[in-house]
Amino acid sequence: MSGQAVKPLRLAVLISGRGSNMLSIARECLAGRLAAQLALVLADQPAAPGLAAAASLGLAVQSVDPARFRQEGRLDKAGLEAAMAQAIDAANPDLIVLAGFMRVLSPAFVAHYAGRILNIHPSLLPRHKGLHTHERALAAGDAEHGVSVHYVTAELDGGPVVLQARVPVLPGDDVASLAARVQREEHIIYPQVIDWIARGRLQCIDGKLQLDGAPLAAPLQRTAGAT
Ligand code: GAR
Repeated sequence: MSGQAVKPLRLAVLISGRGSNMLSIARECLAGRLAAQLALVLADQPAAPGLAAAASLGLAVQSVDPARFRQEGRLDKAGLEAAMAQAIDAANPDLIVLAGFMRVLSPAFVAHYAGRILNIHPSLLPRHKGLHTHERALAAGDAEHGVSVHYVTAELDGGPVVLQARVPVLPGDDVASLAARVQREEHIIYPQVIDWIARGRLQCIDGKLQLDGAPLAAPLQRTAGAT
């Protein structure tokens, strides 16, 4: 992913947990292989382990605490998202990167960053939208599983898919072995898609993908080995 110098793309990376995808992107940036910089790592859980890992790399970290936005058991989602948007906008990012961010964003929040939010989802979309994708792939007897990087629209896990990595489901797989096989691919394809955006090769305009100036009619595919 090296090449001619380009202005680093400013990223706000949103996490909820471990943050291994965030760390894979951060390492590519810090190694100079990805023309981007993490302007902010924002978690919706103050105790998210990924926050400490990001801080130890010297990255700017912040969190919002959902408990502060809960009244009589009800979450003030608009208030929580306003706090998130304030932190994000202060970092002035070019791109919002959802990396294991486990909260459904409102249409208003998505519209505020239209065409500038990416997500990684652990399935071959449109198959297995939502949660527990590895369990569902195993229960369905899928021969193949994988991961998708897509732009975020108001429809949950429904925005245009840029790149998918496909992995086989092997005899004897359980959720842990399948998740690990998928996650190895996540750490390859997420930095790849961000690199295309950083180099001005990929855009999402009015919900339509353009790669190298031509419409991208179907998701690009990476087929991994059975390791
Ligand atoms: C990843 O597998 C990602 O695809 C998934 O959460 C995990 C986060 O891992 N995202 C979703 O399920 C979004 N619906 P990480 O915290 O180690 O990057």
